[in-house]
Amino acid sequence: MKLSNNQICKQIAEAESLPTLLLEAIDYLRLLYQEQSLSELQLQKRLAEIYREYGRAALQIPQGSHTYWQTEEELIYGAKVAWRNSTRCIGRIFWETLNVRDLRHLTTAEEIFDAIVDHLYQATNGGNIRSTISIFAPVAPGQPGIHIWNSQLIRYAGYRQPHGSIVGDPEQAEFTELCQHLGWKGQGTPFDVLPLVIQMPGEKPQWFELPKEAVMEVPIAHPDYEWFAELGLKWHALPAVSNWRLEIGGISYSCAPFSGWYMSTEIAARNFGDEQRYNLLPVVAQRMGLNTRSKLSLWKDQALIELNRAILYSFIACGVKIVDHHTASAQFMQHWQREADAGRIVPADWGRIVPPMSASTMQVFHQEMQDVCLKPNFFQQPVPWKRESSNRPSIPSVFGDSQPKQCPFR
Ligand code: ARG
Repeated sequence: MKLSNNQICKQIAEAESLPTLLLEAIDYLRLLYQEQSLSELQLQKRLAEIYREYGRAALQIPQGSHTYWQTEEELIYGAKVAWRNSTRCIGRIFWETLNVRDLRHLTTAEEIFDAIVDHLYQATNGGNIRSTISIFAPVAPGQPGIHIWNSQLIRYAGYRQPHGSIVGDPEQAEFTELCQHLGWKGQGTPFDVLPLVIQMPGEKPQWFELPKEAVMEVPIAHPDYEWFAELGLKWHALPAVSNWRLEIGGISYSCAPFSGWYMSTEIAARNFGDEQRYNLLPVVAQRMGLNTRSKLSLWKDQALIELNRAILYSFIACGVKIVDHHTASAQFMQHWQREADAGRIVPADWGRIVPPMSASTMQVFHQEMQDVCLKPNFFQQPVPWKRESSNRPSIPSVFGDSQPKQCPFR
């Protein structure tokens, strides 16, 4: 029996407990059609189509395999709204300009790697950075998804030394050992770009070296202190988060790396300043000749400012797009106003939005925020090499089944 669209929608509306996937699909499609000023009739038509596809998938494949394939339009708008809903991001005023790359058709790790190299070129754009997301095939129900093991497409290795110190980025020490275990060899400098580790569903992870030309880097100098360049610091131009799951209308994209441009404090205050990262404040303060024995000399604060000036100065000198925290804060408040005009709230995590220095000098500090989770959105995923594989026999353990289940090389 063939049901009319109206009948199907009536069924959907009347169903007491629709499967979560369909409920999510309905929610998202309502949002999409309303925000794009599409008609109720068009919405009903599309919902009926999804409902049919979902039912058909249920007939073809056994138990729990129901799903639907999103249109390109649904995917593109969903990715933009996922950014708009990202409670930790201060740069959301630009959400509508996101460049969305639909790469759902790619099926091998090699193809995905090539597409990611393209992403780096397109997004970096010679320094005039464009916010970009690359979306690979969705997670099939009941199956493992595609995973990038790196937390970001570009990160520097951290090498644990015999006596416990770390050369490079301590945050990457565990992942670096894993890469070495897979057969990668780094140079051992503080700024070795890590390889990309890609895992296809049910397969072992594969690593790929990123081509040097695809990774733009900025050597760090200071507008006033000539000695600053002697520290030999640099940072990559493109921040590209690669291990979060994108969820749109109930469909999960486990591999959807997205990139924007940096806010200076991300590098200067956190990546360089944090004690558990490059821990450069004592080094800079000493070179500045500050009194590092007394906390009340505020040497940390002074060094922090100069590190930030160095990052901004160097990125601008190299023609690489970057934003300072004062401008970013002002843009966020403008976004807040625009969203209010559109009848929406800006869900936000105050602790993540307020920049990590000079907080009270910015309007965001004085703004009350509601930290609510709206969808579409990005979600953290379990660390791939710590994912329990014993209860999922379909996924072969990464290094063979005789190996321990936790961190595979310890
Ligand atoms: N904070 C991260 C880093 O330092 C990047 C996170 C995303 N940042 C961005 N501006 N899009 O690498």
